[in-house]
Amino acid sequence: IPHSNEFADYVWPGMIVNPEKIISLNEIEFGPDDVVIASYPKSGTTWASEVLSAIAHEGNIDALKSIRMDERVPWIELDDKAWWIKFFYVWKNKMFSTGVDVRPAKKRICFTHLPLELLPTSILEGKCKLLYVARNPKDQAVSYFHFHRMARFLGLQTHTTWDEFFPLFCSGYLYCGSWFEHVLSYWKFTQNNPMAKFICYEDMKRDLMGEMESLEQFVGVPLSIEQRINVVKHCSFDSMKDNKMTNRNGVMLFNEKICKFMRKGIVGDWKNYFTVTQSEAFDELYKKKMEGSGLQFEFE
Ligand code: A3P
Repeated sequence: IPHSNEFADYVWPGMIVNPEKIISLNEIEFGPDDVVIASYPKSGTTWASEVLSAIAHEGNIDALKSIRMDERVPWIELDDKAWWIKFFYVWKNKMFSTGVDVRPAKKRICFTHLPLELLPTSILEGKCKLLYVARNPKDQAVSYFHFHRMARFLGLQTHTTWDEFFPLFCSGYLYCGSWFEHVLSYWKFTQNNPMAKFICYEDMKRDLMGEMESLEQFVGVPLSIEQRINVVKHCSFDSMKDNKMTNRNGVMLFNEKICKFMRKGIVGDWKNYFTVTQSEAFDELYKKKMEGSGLQFEFE
């Protein structure tokens, strides 16, 4: 994979994530007012981030609309020293920031794609809340396929086909490693752990109101039903797709001619990509890897 470096048995997109930055995260003291969202990429991180950010801002949609999401919910392992990231932020601020003063959020929210064992110590020690977002691996793989073609920093060629990507995904030799290892290690970590919670994309799709209620309890910021209804509307796929604070349009890192960051936002798109043979091979792998875990996903 071009543009990548290796560290701790993983391949990293060297342009934006580097080992020094990951190691330096241990110096940050995460505390009771922090909520860290962790996920394997393309599992609904952006969606969960907007929902949690809305809860942290006590349902104040005006606040969400006046601050870009990547400021409200920063990506902790992003190498912010890279010159072009600084350039990008200055440019984006000129484009988007409204300068509206808003009440500070009740909680600080941030996100990470780091595998569990590389998390900063204070998170592993339960000093802050940790929310893990997971998605059924077939839809995740399809979304990740598109992402690999459009994210310039992942270095896969834009003409790469699904048939070429599929074995790469199954082998786990790609950014963030094996989906199974990522998800299962966090699944174990979140069980019987009052500081951690595990949620699924498919549950958010089916009942976002219900998921929000349990997220509010988890972070300790209750909303009224009316506020919750407004947040659900604000966080719908169509609304986030049209919202320049959340849709990640215009990010230099992405080639939008290939596809948009907010692509389809549905459950079951895998059926348009997996052949019957691929689906059966994946089901077998899934059965073997997930056996005894007690974790189940919905695929449609
Ligand atoms: P698709 O590529 O299947 O459309 P992440 O934020 O972890 O990178 O995940 C991105 C995936 O979540 C993309 O999936 C994106 O479209 C989807 N997504 C983002 N916001 C969403 C929303 N409000 N509702 C449903 N899906 C959403």
